[in-house]
Order: sequence, then structure tokens, then C-alpha cells
Amino acid sequence: MRVPKPAPRPDRVSLWRYLRLFREDILSAQPARLYRAWMAEFRTPFFRSYMCNDPALVRRVLQERPDDFPKSDRVREGLAPLLGQSVFVTNGEMWKRQRRIIDPAFEGGRLRDTFPAMWAAGEAAVARMGTGLVEVEEFASHAAADVIFRTLFSIPIEDRDATAVFHAFRAYQRTQPILNLAAFVPLPRWLPRGFRRGTRAAAAEIRRLITAMTARRAAEIAAGTAPDDLATKIMVTADPVTGERFETEEMVDQVAIFFLAGHETSASALGWALWLLAAHPEVQEAVAAEAAGMVPEFSALSRLKLTRDVFRETLRLFPPVPMMVRETTCPEDFRGRAVKPGAQVVLSSWHLGRHERIWSDPDGFDPARWGREETKAAARDGWLPFSAGPRVCTGAGFAMAEGVLLLAMLARAFRFEVVEGRVPVPVAHLTVRAKDGIWLRVTRRGGEI
Ligand code: HEM
Repeated sequence: MRVPKPAPRPDRVSLWRYLRLFREDILSAQPARLYRAWMAEFRTPFFRSYMCNDPALVRRVLQERPDDFPKSDRVREGLAPLLGQSVFVTNGEMWKRQRRIIDPAFEGGRLRDTFPAMWAAGEAAVARMGTGLVEVEEFASHAAADVIFRTLFSIPIEDRDATAVFHAFRAYQRTQPILNLAAFVPLPRWLPRGFRRGTRAAAAEIRRLITAMTARRAAEIAAGTAPDDLATKIMVTADPVTGERFETEEMVDQVAIFFLAGHETSASALGWALWLLAAHPEVQEAVAAEAAGMVPEFSALSRLKLTRDVFRETLRLFPPVPMMVRETTCPEDFRGRAVKPGAQVVLSSWHLGRHERIWSDPDGFDPARWGREETKAAARDGWLPFSAGPRVCTGAGFAMAEGVLLLAMLARAFRFEVVEGRVPVPVAHLTVRAKDGIWLRVTRRGGEI
């Protein structure tokens, strides 16, 4: 079955049509030639924007000189009501200090500590999965939110506060088309930013709930009664350079981004992975067989080789964060073109993942490619779902463990089938989602578990 791809727009459209399309969905606002081009320049009256698919340029921006290509202030402004000074939006010294405090909590050894909580979330997801016709995106959001609450704060999603945060985030995301536009397009400052009614209120409600959780945890740490989870680890870690720890307010900013970056993205990947398995029953059966003998130990993950390749292939075809945006701060030469400071640089994991000059059969689902030698070079140049360089996703290892584990646990308990006439259409809002959800027919497997 063909893997869904958004219909591209015609090559030439007016700026206003482009902005309108962009607001609806960044993916279908782009022309088909971007799957072949190494670079594309967009000229508008307000800004110049360069989409860079050339691997050497991507490396320059993310790995070789990341300090010269910071995130734009406008991205921070667009997300400020919710994220404040979170590590996702800060730059320079502040960002470096935040990473020094956060990164140790996500290192390999620490990841092992979160495994029991992830496993428990997987069991809860298996228990929650319905049979018959099921919309699996909503299901995946629930499961991924559960993983975050259990690993960060040692509480399941059924907890009253966790449920309240989850619902407040959903209310916030209903305002996302505006957020999308405000966050990615550097419109001039005199244009009204137009937060949709309710955005600020929803953000304030989320922050109120997270602040209460964080303050409670600070009190538990002081009393010596705090559980040893990710929140505690981050809150007790001192910056090795300055000796500072996060104050409650700054920790709230980080919790907000862990929740947003950590559950929306993982949910998107899990939803698409389930659809891909449903569309490729022979792969699904092999994944179920691989998962059949799985035991609740961290080391079990390393034996789920096919499941891992399925998840990697899912992230190539449907990277949850489809594009990343940076800004030039000094004159640059991009493939012979002079680029001024203040230009927008767009790195598209979506286009790189399906780039015709990087991958063979770019739109095909082929988990076996991950065992082939040629994939090494393609992956180095075109597999960017977690970004790269010092600003790489903090939760990459966590997300790979979570995604592989949940997929394996679900595939060994259930059989998923596509529903005729319901091929999901990818659209990019905060993450890559299906336009009308991902509907699958779900039956329980007998005997195997
Ligand atoms: C499949 C799941 C995930 C994907 C595809 C993903 C992808 C990404 C990408 C592409 C970025 C870079 C964005 C940019 O530079 O503009 C990023 C950053 C980030 N991610 Fe993830 N992420 C995932 C899961 C997680 C999880 C589970 C967590 C935490 C629990 C997390 C925390 C973060 C944070 C804190 C940043 C900001 C890092 C920085 O700017 O220094 N992510 N993620």
C-alpha cells in the first residue's frame, strides 16, 4: 500500500496564497521540487527564507557553527505564553546552562532507570486499547502523555492533576494554526501577532497546573521524600559550571517543554507507526513475533531489532517535527548565493527524509533498508527527526526506547488493519498529524501473550 504524502502546491503562487496555504499546513504549502532540490530561496517583501537540503549546509548550521545560527526571537515570542524561557526557545549562555542541567537526566544509564515506568505505561496502553474501529492518534496521545507523567513525576495519566494538564494542552493545541504561523514566519513586528482567543488563557492554565506540581516536588525534595524520577533528577542537578540549580519558575518552563515536545512528538510517531504496520501486514506479523518473548527488562529493547527499524523508518517518512527554523547572524554563502544576516534558514526533516537524491525508493516503507550498507550514508545526510549537533533533541534516546517498546507491546497484543477509504492525510500543525485522524480496525490476538 502506498505511503501517504501531502499533495504539493503548484510551483508558483502569490505570497498571500502561500501564507494562506502555510497557515493551513506547512507541508502541502510546498512545491514538489523541494524533494529534489538542494536549496530553495523564498523571497517575500518581509523576509528571505532558505530551505537547505544540501547535507553540507545542514551540517554547517546544526553542527559546525550552531552559535551563528540561533533560533529566532520570534519563535520564542510565538511560544512564550506557554514555554517562557524553556530550553527549546532560549539561545546563547542561558541555553547552554540549561542543557548542562537537563542532559544528565537523559543519559544512557539514567534512561535505564526510567524503563519500569515506560513498561508500566505500555501495559496501561495495552489495557486501554479498544477493539473494532479505533482512532489511534488520540489513543497514542494518551499513551505518550502517560509515559511523560510516569517518568517525569511518577504519576499515571489517570491522576487528577495529570488529566487536567493533558486536557489543558489539548485546549491549547486547538489554537495551533495561529501558533504555527506566528512561530515560523518572521512577519514584521508591526503586524498584530493575533494569538487566537483562548491561547493565552489555555497557556496560563497549563502553567498554573505545572507550577503546583513543581512546587510540590520542590517541597518533597527539601523534605527528603521525593521519588527518584526525571523531575527530581533535574531539580537536584547543579550546573557544573555555575553551581546553580533551576528555580521553580525556570523548572516550570522546562516541564512545559518536556510535556509538549515529549508527548506530541512521540504520539505522532506511534500513530503513524501503527498505520504503517497495518498497511504492511507481513511486517506487522514479524514485529509481533519478535515481541512475543519480550521480558520487562531494559535489555529486552536491544533484541527488538525489527521493531527498531520499523520505528526508524516511520521517523524517516513521518518526522513528527517536520521543519526546524534558524536565523543567520552574519553574511553567509549558501551554495554560491550571498545571504544577509537576519535571513530565515529552514531545515526540513520532512523533505530530507524523502529526498530523491539521498534515498532509494524515498516514499516506500522498507524497514529492511536499515540493514543495508547504503543506508548509512543516506541516514547521515537525510535522517534528521531529532535534529543534530549540540541542539539535538534531549529526549532522542528516551523517545527511541519509548516508541520501540510501545509498538512492540501493542503489536504482540493486537492485530491492526487499515480501513478502506480511510487513508490518513499527513498535515503539519505542531507535529505531523493525520487530517482526520488515523482509523484502524483492531482485533485482539489470541493465545500469543
Ligand atoms: C519521537 C519523538 C521525538 C521527536 C521526533 C523529537 C524531535 C525533536 C527535534 C527535531 C528537536 C529540535 C527542534 C529544533 O531545533 O527546532 C527537539 C528538541 C527537543 N526535544 Fe525532542 N523529540 C521527541 C521526543 C522528545 C522527548 C520524549 C523529550 C523529553 C522528554 C524531548 C525533549 C526535547 C527538548 C527539551 C528539546 C529542545 C532541545 C534544545 O533546543 O536544546 N523530545 N526534539
